[in-house]
This record gives sequence, structure tokens and C-alpha cells, in this order.
Amino acid sequence: MKRYHIITFGCQMNEHDSENIAGMLESMGYVLADDPFKAEVVVLNTCSVREHADKRFYGMLGQFKKRRDENKDTRIVCVCGCMPQQPRVQDEIKKSFSWVDVVFGTQTIGDFPRLLNDRISTGKKQFSITANNSIVPDEKESKRLHKHKALVNITYGCNNFCTYCIVPYTRGREKSRSLEDVVCEVKKLVADGAIEVMLLGQNVNSFIDDKGNTFPTLVRAINDIEGLERIRFMTSNPKDLSDELIECYRTCEKLCKHIHLPVQSGSSSVLKRMNRRYDREKYIDIINKLKSACPDIAITTDIIVGFPGETEAEFEDTLSLVEYVKYDSAFTFIYSPREGTPAAGFSDQIPYDIKHERFERLNEVVNKYSLEKNERLSDKTVKVLIDGSSRKDDKSYSGRTDGFKLVNVSSGRDITGQLVDVRITECKTFSIDGVLA
Ligand code: SAH
Ligand code: SF4
Ligand code: F3S
Repeated sequence: MKRYHIITFGCQMNEHDSENIAGMLESMGYVLADDPFKAEVVVLNTCSVREHADKRFYGMLGQFKKRRDENKDTRIVCVCGCMPQQPRVQDEIKKSFSWVDVVFGTQTIGDFPRLLNDRISTGKKQFSITANNSIVPDEKESKRLHKHKALVNITYGCNNFCTYCIVPYTRGREKSRSLEDVVCEVKKLVADGAIEVMLLGQNVNSFIDDKGNTFPTLVRAINDIEGLERIRFMTSNPKDLSDELIECYRTCEKLCKHIHLPVQSGSSSVLKRMNRRYDREKYIDIINKLKSACPDIAITTDIIVGFPGETEAEFEDTLSLVEYVKYDSAFTFIYSPREGTPAAGFSDQIPYDIKHERFERLNEVVNKYSLEKNERLSDKTVKVLIDGSSRKDDKSYSGRTDGFKLVNVSSGRDITGQLVDVRITECKTFSIDGVLA
């Protein structure tokens, strides 16, 4: 039983946890199987941020059960991540999915090798979930997905309790690593070939370590690391975004000219009900400051439509905010009630057809600006860090610009991991094509 496969749902935190889990498995002698159904050990790293993610997880679990029952390759099925962190899901797994071999949570990732060994040696199912106490785990065993770019956790957990969001219940209270630890990890990553790092936290702006170092200090310290080319971070909550961070866009040449700044709604009254702790005016003020510090900064966002009680006028405030900011792109979501969060209990839930109609109207405006922003790159030559070849056609490589735009480039040679000059030839709403310059 020596092949493994990990299926990851959800955000970059989960992606990075999966890199850590892969590292553990490889140090136990397992090798990666590209096909999930050709691995003896399968790990499903789950997300519960919206109902859609729940459904996909249960569907997939059923497929692996079938394989295991039929004595196909699948032998051991492990479930981890945000789903089993909730008491409701724990009950469900114990009741309806009691055949799952190993279950662990976001706080017990470090126990995984022991749990897996115990499962194999005793034949008994293993269940290890602890309450949310947000431990700062050991980061050294990670098996990175990409050589040239790396995910680096700087904070764990979240203290913000936005009323729609499950994350504080699945990831525990916020904790920051120390600046020294993060800098030391980034230096090691650079020595190992990384030229881009993505600093991760549910709200990177509230990073503060035991010595009182804050996020802008961390960004400046990382900017000084030789050999590193690009710094990104995610996610930045507007409520804690400081002028000092905005200043970093002027002073730190490695900081990519992009910010992902989730607004959620353009209506101050909705933002208040969401417990976001900023209003439309404060958000616009930040946008104006960012644009004056860095005139060609790319701005992306997350938006939720159909939050409980959202009126047509409140929704139109979101549309007008999108018109004002002219986002480069936006992740748009239909509000999905999450059991245990305050908003799920609000009485004025919006009917699905209204939510859906607003979602379509919003996407139309968002897409209009995405195309407009992409078209600005037409005929320009830009630097693209190539992530790899696209599966469909192995002569086509894709990567990101400084402003996080996805560019497809055709090349006769393998350019994965290289920062190449690309002349943009075609700009569409969702993709940009180019040729090596
Ligand atoms: N920490 C980040 C968000 C992490 S969750 C921040 O504060 O910006 C990623 C996105 O999922 C959120 O920005 C939000 O837009 C969306 N989301 C979270 N809970 C949701 C829910 N219940 N329904 C719909 N979208 C949701
Ligand atoms: Fe969720 Fe809000 Fe925390 Fe982001 S800041 S993870 S939206 S509670
Ligand atoms: Fe999902 Fe958990 Fe991330 S709920 S979005 S995987 S923190």
C-alpha cells in the first residue's frame, strides 16, 4: 500500500495543508499516484464555506466507497479539513460514513502519520478532532506543488466572525507565526528554487507576532530577501488595511501590483449586518489611496449576493461600487446559509430566484470590466511567471502577470517556472493569449 492521492477543496490554506500532508506521506515512503483511483491511500481535504463544496465532497466520498467495496486499488480513505471540524458533520460521518478509515481536523494535521500507521497496524478506524485552539504547526515537511512558487502561512485561524462565514468555527482563533520564522522559511524556499511567495492568512493585515512586528514590517523584511522576485498575499481584510501597507506598494519593488480586497457588498447597511466592520466610504477611501500609491494596481475582490434582507437598493449599491472600482476580476457568490453562523438564523432569507437573478446581473457588470482591463494589455509585452503546461495541449503554457492575470503562451520548449517576456496577442474576458517576446 504505497501510493497516495490527495483531493483538495477550498482555499489556499487547504492547498497548503495538502502540501504538508503530501510531505508527511512521502516521508513515510508513499509515492504520488496521478489517478485518484489508482492510489491505495486517498485523502479528501474538505471545505465547508458554501453548500456546493459540501455536495461535491459527499459525492466523491460515495465514489471511493464503491471502489473500496469492490476491492479496487482504494484501500484507505481519509477525510480532513474544514468539514469534520463541525459537530454536525462529525455526527454525520459517525452515523452515515462510519466506514471512513481516518478522520482528522484542521488542528490535528500533525497527528496524521500516527493515525494512518495505527489504522494499518490495528485495523481500527481513527478519529482525531480537537476543538479550535489554532496551534501553530510545524511547517518543515511540506511537499510543494510548484518549485518556482510557494505558499507560506503567516497566520492561522480567524477572529472576525463575519456573520455569514463558517471559517472561524473550522479554523479556530487567529494566531501569527513569528517574523523570524516566516523570513527563515522564505529564505529556505528561495534556496530551494522559489522566486514567488504567497503569504497566507484569512486576514493578513492583522498579523502581529510576539515582538509586535506587524504585516508591513514583514512585507519589507521579505522584500529584502535576495533571489526572491515576487511577493503576493491573501487575504487582506479592508477593516485592518493600514496606510503603512499601502506605502509598501511604493517602496517594495518585489510586491506584485495586485491586491485581492474582498468587499462582499457595496452597501454599508449590508456590511453592517455582515459584521465586516468597514463601510462603503472606508472601502472607497482605501481604493483611492491604493490607486494613488500605485496607479496601475490590479484590484480583485469577493462579492456575495442575496445576503439575508438584501433589498434591491442595497444590491444596486454593490453594482455601483463595481462600476466605481472597475475590478480586474471578482469571485462572485450566491449567499449560502451555513449552519451555526448567525446569518443562517436571520429570518429574512432571500428566495433563490432573486439571488440568482442578482448574481447574473452582477456578473455582467464584473465581466464588462474584466474584459476592459484585460484589453489594456493588448500588444504589450509583459513578464509572466509560467506555472506549467495546460493539460489540453502540452505546447500551451500558462502563468500569471504581476497583476495576477492568467496568460496562455505557446512555446516549443518547456518554460515552466521561468519568468518570461510575453507579447499579448488576444484579450478575452476570461483569458489572455500571448507569444514569447
Ligand atoms: N478571509 C477572507 C475570506 C475567506 S472565504 C476574507 O475575509 O476576505 C472566501 C470567500 O467566500 C469570502 O470572501 C466570501 O465572499 C465567500 N463566502 C464565505 N462564506 C460564504 C457564504 N456563507 N455564502 C457565500 N459566500 C461565502
Ligand atoms: Fe470569514 Fe470574515 Fe474571517 Fe474572512 S474575515 S475568514 S470572511 S470570518
Ligand atoms: Fe473552505 Fe476552510 Fe478554506 S471552509 S475556504 S477550506 S478555511
